[in-house]
Amino acid sequence: MIVCQKFLQHLQLLVTVLLLSWRATFEHSTGTKVGIKCLEKERETLLKFKGELIDESGQLSSWGNEEYKKDCCKWRGVSCDNQTNHIVELDLSGLLLGGNISVSLLEIRHLKYLDLSVNDFNNSIIPQLIGSLGRLQHLDLYDSNFGGEIPHHLGNLSELNFLRLGSYHENLLTSTNLDWLSRLHSLSYLAIISVNLTMATNWLQTITKLTQLISLSLYSCDLPMVLPPSSFNVSNSLFDLTLTGNEFSSSWIFPLVFNLSSNLSFLDLTFNKLQGEIPISLGNMSSLTLLYLSDNQLTGDLPCSALSSSLTTLDLSHNMFNGTMTQCIRNLSKLESLFLFSNNFEDIITESHFFHLSQLQWLDLSSNPGISFNFSLGWNPPFQLTRVSLADCKVGPHFPTWLRTQTRLEYLDISNAEISGTFPDWFWESSPKLSSLNVSHNNFCGVLPNLSLKFSTFDSIDLSFNHFNGSLPILPHNGSVLDLSSNEFFGSITNLCNETSCYWYSLDLSNNLLFGQLPNCFANLPNLKYLNLAHNNFSGKIFSPNICSSLHLQNNSFTGEIPTSLRNCTSLTFIDLSQNKLTGKIPIWVGDTWTKLVFLSLRSNEFFGSIPSNLCHLAHLQVLDFSLNKISGGIPKCLNNFTGMIQVDSEFDVSFNLQYYGGFESAFVTWKGKDAEYINTLKLVKLIDLSSNNLVGDVPVEITSLVMLVGLNLSRNNLSGFLPPNIEQLRSLDFLDFSRNHFSGGIPDGFSQLDQLGVLDLSYNNLSGKIPKSIHLQTFNASAFEGNLGLCGPPLAKACPGDDIAQVPETSDNVDGMKNPEDEDKLINDGFYISMAVGFIFGFWGVCGTLVFNNSWRIAFFKLWNSVMDWLYVKMAISKIRLREAYHKFVKF
Ligand SMILES: *[C@@H]1O[C@H](CO)[C@@H](O)[C@H](O)[C@H]1NC(C)=O
Ligand SMILES: *[C@@H]1O[C@H](CO)[C@@H](O)[C@H](O)[C@H]1NC(C)=O
Ligand SMILES: *[C@@H]1O[C@H](CO)[C@@H](O)[C@H](O)[C@H]1NC(C)=O
Ligand SMILES: *[C@@H]1O[C@H](CO)[C@@H](O)[C@H](O)[C@H]1NC(C)=O
Ligand SMILES: *[C@@H]1O[C@H](CO)[C@@H](O)[C@H](O)[C@H]1NC(C)=O
Ligand SMILES: *[C@@H]1O[C@H](CO)[C@@H](O)[C@H](O)[C@H]1NC(C)=O
Ligand SMILES: *[C@@H]1O[C@H](CO)[C@@H](O)[C@H](O)[C@H]1NC(C)=O
Ligand SMILES: *[C@@H]1O[C@H](CO)[C@@H](O)[C@H](O)[C@H]1NC(C)=O
Ligand SMILES: *[C@@H]1O[C@H](CO)[C@@H](O)[C@H](O)[C@H]1NC(C)=O
Repeated sequence: MIVCQKFLQHLQLLVTVLLLSWRATFEHSTGTKVGIKCLEKERETLLKFKGELIDESGQLSSWGNEEYKKDCCKWRGVSCDNQTNHIVELDLSGLLLGGNISVSLLEIRHLKYLDLSVNDFNNSIIPQLIGSLGRLQHLDLYDSNFGGEIPHHLGNLSELNFLRLGSYHENLLTSTNLDWLSRLHSLSYLAIISVNLTMATNWLQTITKLTQLISLSLYSCDLPMVLPPSSFNVSNSLFDLTLTGNEFSSSWIFPLVFNLSSNLSFLDLTFNKLQGEIPISLGNMSSLTLLYLSDNQLTGDLPCSALSSSLTTLDLSHNMFNGTMTQCIRNLSKLESLFLFSNNFEDIITESHFFHLSQLQWLDLSSNPGISFNFSLGWNPPFQLTRVSLADCKVGPHFPTWLRTQTRLEYLDISNAEISGTFPDWFWESSPKLSSLNVSHNNFCGVLPNLSLKFSTFDSIDLSFNHFNGSLPILPHNGSVLDLSSNEFFGSITNLCNETSCYWYSLDLSNNLLFGQLPNCFANLPNLKYLNLAHNNFSGKIFSPNICSSLHLQNNSFTGEIPTSLRNCTSLTFIDLSQNKLTGKIPIWVGDTWTKLVFLSLRSNEFFGSIPSNLCHLAHLQVLDFSLNKISGGIPKCLNNFTGMIQVDSEFDVSFNLQYYGGFESAFVTWKGKDAEYINTLKLVKLIDLSSNNLVGDVPVEITSLVMLVGLNLSRNNLSGFLPPNIEQLRSLDFLDFSRNHFSGGIPDGFSQLDQLGVLDLSYNNLSGKIPKSIHLQTFNASAFEGNLGLCGPPLAKACPGDDIAQVPETSDNVDGMKNPEDEDKLINDGFYISMAVGFIFGFWGVCGTLVFNNSWRIAFFKLWNSVMDWLYVKMAISKIRLREAYHKFVKF
């Protein structure tokens, strides 16, 4: 999905910026000391080197000829030996450099360390001359946008200790033969990332010759599963093995891993094609402390003997385990993190299984519908957890009382866990550090206490889809995402916030029984981006936050005009004011200020006046719904300025980048006569609905340039003139309703070419002539054409002059012009609509705690994370183990 890719690009950009700023903070300058003067010859060499680089952002401005820049040992990224004054290090990572690597580099003979990572060499090949820098110990070309075949000359770098090639973002490099690598006998760190090694059938032979390796990553390299060499020495040094994202099968990779090293501590085989049960022999790897086998197709039980008792982290999430787990976890007494989510374990978990797990801090068993819990009421667990997710497991019917003992809890997700009853009061006291709570989709009822006493700050509180009732509790001020939707909260919300102290990003109170006026303070909430008050009975005027980007107020009783205060919402992308009692003209400033708008619905209100033509400035618009109002005048001709309805994925992603907060967007539109909600569906709906107004004049031909339009409803107006002749340009059209106007003339032939059309209604106009013949048009019910006295030919029973008696088509048992009602419903369910936003999270780093992604996102995010992780690992020597934990903290799969 392009949208997702774009989203990730934004994240990538963010990450790059972040890394650069980290870099600035951690910039090292090992040898550079006051008093050291660099060698004149090397200085000139560096200037020649710079001369062939492209440095658009001026990162190398400290490199120069001026007197005060004389000492090249003080130049950015340059380090000299403190005794010989020779340049020994060039660290040019993340400087956005491009251009050519000058051959003059060879004159810096003492260079030991060369880092060109995170630059942009425009898909040029890695210069062979790097292979002649014979003293190099450290070479980093990660994410520098080199492409093509890796030069074998790198094999001359016999002193190389560290080598990193490739990129998580792109797959540009290839190596068809890895012989060169086998000459790098001193390598202890090797990472090859997304390099096409499909043809490198000697890769395994090569790797087994690198006996000094400590850390090996071969990430997503399309490695062929070749026959392992008949004999090789088991390495005792290899400590960290990452073979993520290849297509390895269990039977091939496990025996190999056992032979590669006897000392592995970190093993990551995430995203492979592991199938069947985990082999028992894995248990022989007694030093293994971290094991990541997530995102494979492993099945069966958790085999006890396969899991070393030294494990501290076990990640088997996103597999197909369908047996039991309890026998095993009982013995893993060093376990700190256990991730078994998204499997099909069938098990009853009792307290005895956790008897030895006193170190456990992080437990995620979510999305295992076959897991249930049977703990005694007074159970006092041996562990103190910080993060727990038991979502989509059978936790209920009672609230898990053992949580009372967990005083370090920061994150708790027991959503959709079949729990009912009132929420225990003690819970609000027992975990003072809790900042993320999700109890949604259970059957909780009762009145909530003052939550601001419970949470001084929080990341996210989700109480949605329960039966909480009474008045809305006092909410904590200092937090990000609050979702109390779909409960039975009753009453007014005037005490919801006060002028100074609410910092929410996202507030959802939709689908409750709330009423009364909105508090004034709404206009001042400084951070609010997403506000959903839909489906309540609020009345009075709208107050809106200044910088809101997504506003859902539909189905209330709001009155008055669209307030001018909304004029300050320049980042608004989504506004739904439908089904209220709003009135007045559509403000002219709408077109000038809401320039990022994607969704605009004023449906079913009392708006009047004409459609201002500067509305056409809203180029990103994809849904325009003014139906059921009293709007008069003509349809503006400038509709073809809605490029959002012309492009396939339009600018959606631009406006929906990091502004989107707190959950998935959804919206109601009337679709083929039904109210439909679009949630998390794939394709964007592009829709214009102006039905049931007082519009006059003709349909501007410009409308036919909106080629991605899926629905067009102009019914029940006073429109006249001819039907648009080029209608066949609207190839994506699925729903077309021109009924109950005064259109005249014939039905243009173009109608017969609308192959996607599911619903057509031209009834009750003044159309005349013969209905064009096509396989498609004649399948609609006659009612689609009725009420036009001059029309003739099938599917109408009336024959045209000179024709044979019209044949009534067989499909005439359908109603409302629909071809097949079941198909239509299926279309809606299958996600024909959009996810109006790829709902999502703000703050990226932790404001929200948890992301829920679909599969392709997860993979993309995983890559992204890996690039961050690898960077930190290499640059800052932060242990991979800690980073991997941080990753889990961030993303919930
Ligand atoms: C890089 O080398 C190519 C070919 O020799 C040349 O055309 C180009 O101008 C060089 N670029 C820079 C920035 O020197
Ligand atoms: C020179 O650098 C080495 C290694 O970085 C260091 O051990 C040594 O103390 C330094 N010598 C002087 C004179 O600064
Ligand atoms: C990058 O390479 C492409 C194709 O080789 C070329 O058209 C383009 O000008 C290059 N860009 C820069 C900045 O050198
Ligand atoms: C480096 O390696 C290449 C190819 O592997 C070889 O042709 C070349 O002679 C070597 N150069 C040096 C300076 O050793
Ligand atoms: C890798 O290279 C092989 C052979 O050159 C090619 O067939 C394959 O499509 C490449 N794979 C990718 C992902 O580019
Ligand atoms: C688990 O799945 C495997 C493979 O699909 C199947 O052979 C096995 O019978 C299943 N076991 C149970 C207990 O359902
Ligand atoms: C607003 O909320 C803060 C924090 O709870 C409180 O200290 C302050 O008194 C409140 N102000 C008003 C006017 O209610
Ligand atoms: C819009 O914002 C400006 C500055 O933040 C403020 O002065 C002005 O009163 C706001 N306008 C409305 C209509 O709220
Ligand atoms: C339509 O777009 C064109 C080109 O972007 C612009 O010049 C014109 O002013 C727009 N018209 C309206 C009515 O927005």
